[in-house]
Amino acid sequence: MQQIKLSLNMDFTISPIDPRIFGGFLEHLGRAVYQGVYEPGSPHADADGCRTDVLTALKKLKFTAMRYPGGNFVSGYHWEDAVGPAKSRPVTRDLAWQSLESNQFGPDEFITLSRKMGWTPMMAVNLGTGTPEEARNWLEYCNIESGSKFAEMRRSNGYKKPHDVKLWCLGNEMDGPWQLGHVPAETYAVQAQQTANMMRMCDPSIELVVCGSCTTDLPTYLEWDRKVLEHCKDFVDFISVHRYVGNYGDDALDYFAVSNSIDAQIEATAAVCHAVQATKKTKKRIGISFDEWNVWYRANKPEHMDGRGKIAPHLLEEVYNMEDALVAASFLNSFIRHADSVKIANIAQIVNVIAPILTKGDDVLIQSIFYPIEMIANRFKGTALQSALVGPSYESKSHGKASFLDRSISVDGKNLHISLSNRSLEDEIEVLVDLGGATIVKFDGGEILHHSDPKAHNTFEKKDTVVSKPYSETHISDGKAIVKLPPLSVFAGTFSLE
Ligand code: AHR
Repeated sequence: MQQIKLSLNMDFTISPIDPRIFGGFLEHLGRAVYQGVYEPGSPHADADGCRTDVLTALKKLKFTAMRYPGGNFVSGYHWEDAVGPAKSRPVTRDLAWQSLESNQFGPDEFITLSRKMGWTPMMAVNLGTGTPEEARNWLEYCNIESGSKFAEMRRSNGYKKPHDVKLWCLGNEMDGPWQLGHVPAETYAVQAQQTANMMRMCDPSIELVVCGSCTTDLPTYLEWDRKVLEHCKDFVDFISVHRYVGNYGDDALDYFAVSNSIDAQIEATAAVCHAVQATKKTKKRIGISFDEWNVWYRANKPEHMDGRGKIAPHLLEEVYNMEDALVAASFLNSFIRHADSVKIANIAQIVNVIAPILTKGDDVLIQSIFYPIEMIANRFKGTALQSALVGPSYESKSHGKASFLDRSISVDGKNLHISLSNRSLEDEIEVLVDLGGATIVKFDGGEILHHSDPKAHNTFEKKDTVVSKPYSETHISDGKAIVKLPPLSVFAGTFSLE
């Protein structure tokens, strides 16, 4: 057994947690939309054609901001193809995923779904093959009450009230050479600034996300961000960060230590934001929108990404195990620890495509990564707290020194919310939660996700191999809490303070 002290002080706060860090992402990719959230022929379909079994599962994840419609898909998307009477919508060719798009589910259906689910819509415009004007027109369609061409188009499509979409992304991964319409940073910066300006003229109340570096691997990493921000900072509110990770070397401890690198990626992007703010002598603080994150390394070969001209092909259908669940928890812990800079974050994606939920025919499967999201998103509110760990650590192969314990903490009035992961493959950890001056008086409940086999995963035949359970292996003594965590486990719980 290892003992680790988690040292906190109520005065050492980071920032209020923006609820939008518990966001999701729905792209027209593979079976995410069709056979995912939307399947009018399914016995589970509601009056709008949405799959109630999928929506019931998704509701448990309490998603806030939902990004749509892509992703790489959006860089070839023309929104006007996907509004109006369903029968007159064209079938279009999606070059990003080599698929056919029926356009039967479009922006209006997405808004209806968002209202049903309580999501905040986060729309991405096409800056690959689209124009600033097309983006502006879409905003008018969504947000302007009446009296002009696109507002009236929405009204005649049956949506009398504006959709009122406040959060918009200026394209997707425009630094990636694979992106339709990829251009150098200087060119994108001009396009993004023009688009932002036109969109704000149409509706000044919107918030805008400009594309930052989508991976740490490109030679333009961070230079892209600097150039784009120097040009666009007065017109945008957030810069995007994306990250996909995997256990490439089949080394669980090294894989878990990737959280160091996620921290570093956030801190490096925040540093660029600060540097631009300082050099341009502006008070405006640009936040981070970590709008694609997940484990993705198995279903990323050419055969997993080529739709072969089909509608709703099986693409990117990653199967997640116990070790992936620890890494999913680490992403969220990192966002909470960086609550001062990360204001939005979206797991990519929500169903079938690199997702916590899979469908097969009429059946639905909850994957391991579902649980840490459910556990943490349902508990964490309030203000993130700094913390220090005192106890054993290990030297990882690729990411330096890492603790066996990963964590994030928030305080919300008299409630202390704690997320802890024991990354040791063998040892139980006893965590001593010490608040310095403040006193813990009561444990208010928690959940654990645990399996001794890092490769354990759920299947349609055996759905409950990796599932969360209520957990109460805690006790309070002298105003401090002690939490016992089995090896390979994720815990989230709440304590009352005096
Ligand atoms: O989420 C899958 C894809 O990953 C997205 O379409 C793209 O933005 C990223 O490269």
